[in-house]
Amino acid sequence: MTFALGEVLPAELGAVLQNINLGVLLLDRDGRVVFWNDFMAIHSGRDSAAVRGRLLFEIFPELPQRWIQKKIDGVFALQNLAFTSWQQRPHLFSFSGSRPVTGQTERMYQNCTFSPVLDAAGGVKYVCLTVADTSEVAVQQLEMERLNRLLLAEKSEQARLIRKLEDAQAQLLQSEKMAAIGQLAAGVAHEINNPVGYVYSNFSSLEGYVGDLFKLIETYRTVAAEHRDAALRAQLEQASQALDYDFLREDMAALVRESRQGLERVKQIVQDLRDFSHIDSGDWQLVDLHKGLDSTLNVIWNEIKFKAEVVKDYGELQLVQCLGSQLNQVFMNLIINAAHAIDKQGTIWLETGMQDDWVFVRVRDSGAGIAPEHLTRLFEPFFTTKPVGQGTGLGLSVSYSIVAKHHGRLEVESEPGKGAAFTVWLPPRQPSQGDAEAG
Ligand SMILES: Nc1ncnc2c1ncn2[C@@H]1O[C@H](COP(=O)(O)OP(=O)(O)OP(=O)(O)O)[C@@H](O)[C@H]1O
Ligand SMILES: [Mg+2]
Repeated sequence: MTFALGEVLPAELGAVLQNINLGVLLLDRDGRVVFWNDFMAIHSGRDSAAVRGRLLFEIFPELPQRWIQKKIDGVFALQNLAFTSWQQRPHLFSFSGSRPVTGQTERMYQNCTFSPVLDAAGGVKYVCLTVADTSEVAVQQLEMERLNRLLLAEKSEQARLIRKLEDAQAQLLQSEKMAAIGQLAAGVAHEINNPVGYVYSNFSSLEGYVGDLFKLIETYRTVAAEHRDAALRAQLEQASQALDYDFLREDMAALVRESRQGLERVKQIVQDLRDFSHIDSGDWQLVDLHKGLDSTLNVIWNEIKFKAEVVKDYGELQLVQCLGSQLNQVFMNLIINAAHAIDKQGTIWLETGMQDDWVFVRVRDSGAGIAPEHLTRLFEPFFTTKPVGQGTGLGLSVSYSIVAKHHGRLEVESEPGKGAAFTVWLPPRQPSQGDAEAG
């Protein structure tokens, strides 16, 4: 069944519809084309005589048939108005559109509506499909979105660069700080070393002299005890009681013993400070890591002695080519972190050994452990869970980069409540350095 335009619409209205810059097409219940305006004719390349009475899907086999059929059925059954925008279905009809401003030709973007055309009895007689060309708007908007995406990408790239810069600056700061501390420690150690040296050697002489003096006094006392002048004996006895000579003799020995121990400790601390800062050796050297661990432990002993028992489980290690003072910083950071993780009383294990030609140093603790979501962030500069003012969050990030500089790895294993283990893996020799002399 076909219709002439005049049968469907009043002539004037028909003429408007015929020429309007909008695709207009009427479909009957069977999906056959009843009306088709010039817009449709121009863009499809088929005039209305050629399509009238033909099925829509026959004319445009590329249309999404099931989807459109549902829309059409909806209009007939429910008198629904349906709409599709170019964002959802950019090119429902594959027409080409030209943009008025640039004259550029490309696929036409479309907004389409499906609306009911009612008959006199109020039933749906046709479905009116309109196709609006939105290419101009669409192209502009898409271009804007593209530019926006570019801008966003550039912005996040800039943010990334800024972060990188901050990281680099933070690490520089921290390593400068550590270098300064190292230098200070070495300077102090050097200054103390001289006086301690002569005090220590004088002390040995002094100890000898004191012994000799007591011997002399004893001799006098023995001789005096046998003297026949009773008054002289009483005078000597009174003097020795007034000075509490017996106590003095005993206590003198104890004082000398304790002072010698104290001096030995001072000497050890000075040596530890020197080892720790390794100021005498700023370059790559073959180092006994156990020595480094021990001197580091001595330097920070005050921070940990009340909280943790330190258990050493040292294996066989070959000398490691490294920057000794920097590795000591790593051990210091790990051991202090371990102590901080222990709430009241716990244990820190220092384990070393070799595995597959790698040297490892592990600092394990019985502390609070680390939440899984923190594990991946530990090595970020400024990541800290400590209160403001207590942790800068740089210890691990600096340690990480020092270990990386040694072509090694820093690994962590932990579960909340089950303590944590940080393992430094190092190659005994550096790839580019060749063999250095033991220092
Ligand atoms: N042994 C450990 N047990 C539990 N948590 C740890 C341990 N070591 C590190 N952490 C966690 O990792 C975080 C980062 O450690 P990092 O040493 O980098 O910084 P910090 O100790 O907080 O501050 P600082 O710069 O003073 O070292 C800590 O705040 C802590 O939450
Ligand atoms: Mg720390």
